[in-house]
Amino acid sequence: MKIAVIQGPNLNMLGVREQNIYGPMTLDQIHEQMKATAAQNGVELEFFQSNLEGEIVDRIQECLGETDGIIINPAAYSHTSIAIRDALSAVSLPTVEVHISNIYKREEFRQTSITAPAATGVITGFGPFGYHLGLLSLTQIISEIKAMEEAQAAHESQETQEQAQA
Ligand code: DQA
Repeated sequence: MKIAVIQGPNLNMLGVREQNIYGPMTLDQIHEQMKATAAQNGVELEFFQSNLEGEIVDRIQECLGETDGIIINPAAYSHTSIAIRDALSAVSLPTVEVHISNIYKREEFRQTSITAPAATGVITGFGPFGYHLGLLSLTQIISEIKAMEEAQAAHESQETQEQAQA
C-alpha cells in the first residue's frame, strides 16, 4: 500500500513558526514518526512539501494510478484554493485532510476549508499526532476498499466460471 503525504505552504517552518499554535516538532520529525507507524503496517509513504499551489496540484495529479491514498495538509491553501480541491476531486482517491491546529477555534477566515469537501475525512486540532491518526485512518479505509474489490473480483470470476459450465 502506497500513501502520498502532501504538505502545503509554511509547514517546512514547523518547529520555528508559532510554536504556541503548532508546537516544537519539525516536519522531518513528524515524517520520521509517520515512517515508523507505516513500517509497522506495511505502508510505503512518499513525502512532498511545497509553498506553491501549482506544485501541489501537480503532485496530487501524479498520485493517480501511482498511489492508494493521500494525506494532505493544504495549510493556508485550505482556505483559498479551488484548484487544490478540484485536483483532489479529479483523482478521487481516499484522502485525509490534516490540520495541526483546530481551525474551528481560530480566526474566522480559517474556519472554512474549501478543500475539505474533496477529502474522505478531516482531522483537526490534535497537533502533530493528527498525522498519525490520519495515517491509521487512511490505512484502514484503503484496506477496506481493497478487500471489497477483491471480494467483487472473486464473485465475478465465480460467475464467469458458472456461466462457462452451464
Ligand atoms: C494549518 C492551519 C492553517 O489555517 C494554516 O494556514 C496553516 C496550518 C494547520 O495545520 O493547523 O498553515 O493547516
